[in-house]
Amino acid sequence: MELDGLDKTRLPQHVAIIMDGNGRWAKARGKSRVEGHRRGKTSVRVIVEMSRRIGIRFLSLYAFSTENWFRPDDEVDALMTLLEHYLAAEQAKMMRYGIRLLAVGDRSRLPASVRSALEKVIELTRDNQRMTVVLALSYSGRDDVVRMVKSLAHAARAGKCDPDSIDERIIAEHLDTAGIPDPDLLIRTSGEMRISNFFLWQIAYSEMYVTSCLWPDFREKEYLQALLEYQRRRRRFGRTDEQLDEAVESSLDAGGRQS
Ligand code: FPP
Repeated sequence: MELDGLDKTRLPQHVAIIMDGNGRWAKARGKSRVEGHRRGKTSVRVIVEMSRRIGIRFLSLYAFSTENWFRPDDEVDALMTLLEHYLAAEQAKMMRYGIRLLAVGDRSRLPASVRSALEKVIELTRDNQRMTVVLALSYSGRDDVVRMVKSLAHAARAGKCDPDSIDERIIAEHLDTAGIPDPDLLIRTSGEMRISNFFLWQIAYSEMYVTSCLWPDFREKEYLQALLEYQRRRRRFGRTDEQLDEAVESSLDAGGRQS
């Protein structure tokens, strides 16, 4: 598709997506919720592919939250099966296109077959460098924080970490997202104005984009809109506009080009 107006030099490095609305998409069509998830899986494929094509370096997808375990058993089973099929079907493409797969969340709760399929693809793609897809599975931001605090507490008790030395860098290194830059852009589909326990620490300065589009309908056109909107924003990171203007001016070289 045409990427009219998109500035390839100002892409978000990391896009994170709360994929919501599969159930409503299905209900509106008299279909089963599972059918909505199936169609949502196609959106996942489309968005990964477009991200790779335009040069997004990190794409995180909130595929299954810790709260989703409370859904009816047949829906949980169907989601796990879809995930397993996705991993099996996409691994060749991930290798072909240099995509590395990572997962965040409490993997120990996943069914053994999903866990082993996931670990196989993570291992297979570990050296790929073009793009990283991060699947949030059995993930919640608070659970991530709880596990981070536990690991730091254990390290402190073992004398491997001085509590007074704990700073933002050390905390980030103990979250599931260690080594992954914070999201620049957080997209949520289906219009809800909530974070729903997705990344908490990591989105401190993310730009948020909420669209009423339901996830199964979120395809290239809608993704492009989100990226264009991101490029219209000015990220200030707590600074003033004047400070940013000064920073841009002082980074202009003698020829008037921005360094
Ligand atoms: C939210 O819709 C979506 C989910 C809970 C799961 C997301 C799963 C997929 C997109 C399919 C498979 C994923 C991968 C990575 C292959 P909802 O059911 O909460 O929708 P509703 O709010 O309208 O009920």
